[in-house]
Amino acid sequence: MKIGILGTGSYLPEKVLTNDDLSKMVDTNDEWIRTRTGIKERRIVAENEATSDLAYRAAEKAIEDAGIDRNEIELVIVATMTADHATPSTAAIVQDKLGIRASAFDLSAACTGFIYAYTTGYSFIKAGIYKKVLVIGAESMSRVVDWEDRGTCILFGDGAGAVVLGEVESGGFIGSHLVADGSGACELIVPAGGSRKPANIEAIQNKEIYMQMNGREIFKFAVKVFPETVENVLKQGNITPDDVDLFIPHQANVRIIESIAKRFKQPMDKFFVNLQKYGNTSGASVPIAIDEANKEGKLKKGDKIVIVGFGGGLTYGSILFEWSK
Ligand code: UT7
Repeated sequence: MKIGILGTGSYLPEKVLTNDDLSKMVDTNDEWIRTRTGIKERRIVAENEATSDLAYRAAEKAIEDAGIDRNEIELVIVATMTADHATPSTAAIVQDKLGIRASAFDLSAACTGFIYAYTTGYSFIKAGIYKKVLVIGAESMSRVVDWEDRGTCILFGDGAGAVVLGEVESGGFIGSHLVADGSGACELIVPAGGSRKPANIEAIQNKEIYMQMNGREIFKFAVKVFPETVENVLKQGNITPDDVDLFIPHQANVRIIESIAKRFKQPMDKFFVNLQKYGNTSGASVPIAIDEANKEGKLKKGDKIVIVGFGGGLTYGSILFEWSK
């Protein structure tokens, strides 16, 4: 049985935060942000919205694009590092908003979350447990960013992307590679708000409820592991970088993507980039990009696509698949 993407959807909150807006909040400027990251603006979740609201809207669009009855969905997976609550899962809230009966759980692998969730959804179908799985990447990064830390706040944005996985006539999933290296946990961490350190007054005063990131280390890590994981899935598919029609990488920093294009001797137009509009939306960036590539007509039936994630955990991974729509 071939398993692939039946439909895609995404949702970006309305509020736009530009680099110029940020320069009024921290000591930074549009030129620095653009040249160091490629980002021009990002979206910010509304005060009365949470991650499940973004996820739900992206899911509605993916279901519509798939042209299926929503009741056919048997499992909802939400990849997120900014869940609505510690419990219940964001996925259960989305399942309820969709008005369907399905099992649901969240998956935590930060910026690699969607790659893990896609592989998980695929595996459930391959094992014969479910026929159609809704896989969502959704984040409200603005809720965990320290808006006084120019090293992180300029980078992140909010949004959600979703795909419906199911049986396809041709193409679909070819190979996946998932890695975790917990020895690098402290490089990207929200220190408080979990069982290690509750979000008490001390944690709030020390700003430990916000994300802390060692940008330079993560940058070096990304440039090192990106080729490794891509080479792994290309080998599984018995193809070379020249055979790939489109790379859809995690949208962290355009300099990371450029260095990989150079390394693989591939033109930049084979790498989908939309981070100038949305910044780094962590686990949401890859499914948002897949949806935009789909809606912009950049994906043709039979195209070989590689999606790649890297980030907190530390985690990284990629999937090679053939576009079947
Ligand atoms: O989603 C997955 C996880 N995250 C990532 O993939 C992020 C990977 N890392 C990055 O994208 C980059 O490391 C950053 C964009 C976060 C930072 O860029 P960088 O080129 O690594 O800058 P840096 O941290 O090495 O800082 C260079 C200089 C420093 O000044 P000095 O010490 O050279 O005088 C910083 O203080 O730039 C300064 N700086 C800034 N200046 C203006 C740092 N942030 C800013 C800022 N505006 N926002």
